[in-house]
Amino acid sequence: MSEKAAVRPEDLARAADALAGARRVVVSTGAGMSKESGIPTFRDALEGLWAEFDPQELATEQGFRANPRRVWSWYAWRRRRVVEAAPHAGHLAVTELQRLLPSVTVVTQNVDGLHAAAGSEDVVELHGNIRRLRCLDAGHLFTGEIPGEDDTERDPPPCPACGSPLRPDVVWFGEMLPRVAVERAWDDARRCDALLLVGTSGTVWPAADLPHIARSNGAFVIEVNPETSELTGIANVFLQGTAGGLLPRLVHEVRARVG
Ligand code: APR
Repeated sequence: MSEKAAVRPEDLARAADALAGARRVVVSTGAGMSKESGIPTFRDALEGLWAEFDPQELATEQGFRANPRRVWSWYAWRRRRVVEAAPHAGHLAVTELQRLLPSVTVVTQNVDGLHAAAGSEDVVELHGNIRRLRCLDAGHLFTGEIPGEDDTERDPPPCPACGSPLRPDVVWFGEMLPRVAVERAWDDARRCDALLLVGTSGTVWPAADLPHIARSNGAFVIEVNPETSELTGIANVFLQGTAGGLLPRLVHEVRARVG
């Protein structure tokens, strides 16, 4: 079935009405948002030459300390894919929504920085950003050019300030989410009138809490996903389709109401 056939016009209209009438909107995105930019999800990326590795070895501090060379090389490999990727029509539609409406916060679980690359402002990154580095022991942010960015296996470079190895500034299993990002996201979810949920399975906590918080505070929840998720049950409208296919259509409808 094509997306056009799958989405009922009245559902698209209800979603657009809710967004157009909202004073505050939260757009909450997960790995599915980046799929059409060719970014593999964390688990999808565990294929080919990485197939034999356990996520616990590649995405924990213990794993990094045990084998810094392997973990650095895995992230360098993923970072190269992100840097080479471009935002798609769905990312651009989110940016356009920010221009059309008075207040739209983008809260993402993605670490690829593609919302910012699409020109979105006010992006809250719950799980960090793979393009950024900080050192393992002191958390010094590294702002220079990353040395030796190719797919060759190599050791993590040392922090210029203290010599501790550099690591990606992402949230690994067992780590706290960045406090400022969490406070901002939870605050905005409590206060928003509409929450647009895109491309998340709703299985990773605490991010999966956001639509529950919004809904229990009276917000209208819209979900865009080709499949049902753990969160479909609390959506007021479920729009079945992809981010790249549906978000431009939805934002077109919003523009017709506010433009
Ligand atoms: N457009 C929209 N949604 C899509 C698309 C698409 N083109 N393709 C797939 N999806 C949906 C899937 O149906 C699924 O519901 O995206 C969701 C992806 O689910 P997950 O891979 O579980 O992603 P996410 O919810 O973001 O949780 C994964 O684990 O590795 C960590 O930090 C990572 O936060 C991420 C989390």
